[in-house]
Amino acid sequence: MKKITIAIDGYSSTGKSTVAKQLADWLEYVYVDTGAMYRAVTLYAMQKGFISEEIFDKDKLIASLSEIKLEFRKPNAFSKAEIFLNNENVEKQIRTLQVSEYVSPIATIPEVRRKLVEQQQRMGEGKGVVMDGRDIGTVVFPNAELKIFMNASAEKRATRRFHELLERGDEVAYKDVLENVLERDHIDSTREDSPLRKADDAIEIDNSEMNLEDQFHIILQLAKDRI
Ligand code: C5P
Repeated sequence: MKKITIAIDGYSSTGKSTVAKQLADWLEYVYVDTGAMYRAVTLYAMQKGFISEEIFDKDKLIASLSEIKLEFRKPNAFSKAEIFLNNENVEKQIRTLQVSEYVSPIATIPEVRRKLVEQQQRMGEGKGVVMDGRDIGTVVFPNAELKIFMNASAEKRATRRFHELLERGDEVAYKDVLENVLERDHIDSTREDSPLRKADDAIEIDNSEMNLEDQFHIILQLAKDRI
């Protein structure tokens, strides 16, 4: 069977990664969560003191980029690959609201994007990949055979993210989560380098009123039509 590249882009917390992972499992494709890569670089910048409430030292981060090594490793054959920053598993640490607050400014830095896009293109070289993010269909794989652009109302997205954070045991307020979702969407879609936008040939799916199973079947059918 022919292997294709599937790009899933869209706004924050639209459930892209859940459906992308399901699809990759079903098709036996590689799944790449590119948001995790931007989050891991953000965590590194926080640990080094390059970004905080008062500081945003882009130059120091740019000068240290060659010291950042990102890898995805699977704990076992059935689970999702987890992200390692310089050989340390940071999968849990990158999902906090604090990382979410700093990640979009970090993702505006062209040098950061260049480094991560190169790695993403290498990971998807052999096709048979489902990659989710903000610029996959527009920049990383403009020739992807299937491009999906996911959307949902900001309130639905914030509610989903809020429950995810509560389940992890994080004490957060719904209003802060909603604010973060809106702020990230604004920064992501107005930045100069690779802004979040729907590729002309992407298929838009609004999942505000859709359950996971319906979304999965719609996207799986679109993939099967192209294989
Ligand atoms: O997908 P996730 O919400 O984890 O992404 C976190 C942030 O990383 C986004 O809000 C965006 O600023 C950045 N990002 C990006 N390009 C990608 C993936 C994520 O700029 N391909």
